[in-house]
Amino acid sequence: MSNQKGVSMPYPKPTRRSWAEPFKIKMVEPLKTTTREHRLKAIEEAGYNTFLLRSEDVYIDLLTDSGTNAMSDYQWAGMMLGDEAYAGSKNFYYLESNMQKYYGYNYLVPTHQGRGAEHIISQILIKPGDFIPGNMYFTTTREHQERAGGTFVDVIIDEAHDPDSTHLFKGDVDLQKLEDLIKKVGEKKIPYISVAATVNMAGGQPISMKNMRAVRELTNKYGIRIIFDATRAVENAYFIKMREKGYEGKSIAEILRELCSYTDGATMSGKKDLLVNIGGFLAINDKDVFDEARNMVVVYEGLHTYGGLAGRDMEAMARGMEEMVQEDYIRSRIGQVEYLGQKLLDWEVPVVKPIGGHAVFLNAKKILPHIPQDQFPAQTLAAEIYVDSGVRTMERGVVSAGRDPKTGQHRYPKLELVRVTIPRRVYTQAHMDVTAESVLEVYESREKLKGLEMVYEPKHLRFFQARFAKM
Ligand code: F0G
Repeated sequence: MSNQKGVSMPYPKPTRRSWAEPFKIKMVEPLKTTTREHRLKAIEEAGYNTFLLRSEDVYIDLLTDSGTNAMSDYQWAGMMLGDEAYAGSKNFYYLESNMQKYYGYNYLVPTHQGRGAEHIISQILIKPGDFIPGNMYFTTTREHQERAGGTFVDVIIDEAHDPDSTHLFKGDVDLQKLEDLIKKVGEKKIPYISVAATVNMAGGQPISMKNMRAVRELTNKYGIRIIFDATRAVENAYFIKMREKGYEGKSIAEILRELCSYTDGATMSGKKDLLVNIGGFLAINDKDVFDEARNMVVVYEGLHTYGGLAGRDMEAMARGMEEMVQEDYIRSRIGQVEYLGQKLLDWEVPVVKPIGGHAVFLNAKKILPHIPQDQFPAQTLAAEIYVDSGVRTMERGVVSAGRDPKTGQHRYPKLELVRVTIPRRVYTQAHMDVTAESVLEVYESREKLKGLEMVYEPKHLRFFQARFAKM
């Protein structure tokens, strides 16, 4: 090992035994390195929005963990067994039975990805004027709730909005906030509560089993449904196993089943926990809601036995379910995120604590206090990290939060973050080292950075396509 001046230094003795990836690499995809000049031009052409970069211009792609996973040989072998029938594909029935086995819901409606399921459930259950409480918003989920005429109400605990709080379950619902809302607007105006595990926008933070159980008891009292965003529920199950009393000895599969058992249905982006590149589903226990969803999916996604997916995609998802609950897999998955996070913590770079399940979140508000929030500190930081090293991250702050549909003003979230998101089974520890070093480099030059102005703003989910210019 050598220090930054190239002087060789001894490696410190380990304080714990390491885990290693429970797989070996069978096929490789070369990465392209670029010059700083090339990247400066690329990010300017992309309007300082990392979503608008060409992936060819990216070195290590930590934009998202969505659909960026590496499938196993077992999943790839399954791809060859795709039954590409328009109706009644055998892969659908396999997916349905694995969903029932691992998640425990009665009925399955496949969709092309998570937002397809969010669209369907929102249109079926929400009436104009309704309120949908949730443990923090997610961009696409809230968009579909609002399009159906609903208003999202944040009922997560206050600690979730504090990047420095080390609460172990920052995804917990604040039961008082939830009950206050029910009393204020009446249970008839609340079709369901939207509960996510782990909470993406809070920094990949888990909900505890105890809290989920309590939400079930409270909603039962009022006859309100719980719709679970199960996108990263396996990662949540791992945190429960590590942190919650009574769950140390339970398997990840058991914990996942128990979590789902307190809810009435789930929307799922298969592109995360399920270790695939495309796919999703809606799962539901209520036969009437299922019948409506099955009818609606035909209009928007495809027949109810494929929902916008090829048979092979459903096969890969079904096999992904078998792999996602394997203990050594999930340990290395979360362990890798933690490894990156711990490095940054050791170097005193401000990050959201505790380290989340799928990403390390940089606290842009704290890193760039001289850039006001309406000059987009997180957007600025993500662009700068890209220029430094070609590592691509994403903004999760005021740009992602969008505008309030009633006032038309920016929503100013307390959390102004850059998400450094780790795809599953794709990168190695050395990639994490390079990433951490780039973040540190930018952190050390932070005082020189200037904010951005938004020069193009799309109407919906603006963070995907907005363009910026240097101030
Ligand atoms: N719910 C959560 C918690 C998500 O993180 C996502 C997607 C969705 C729903 C929507 O699923 O993309 O399959 O339509 N998150 C991606 C991300 C985009 O980068 O975090 P989708």
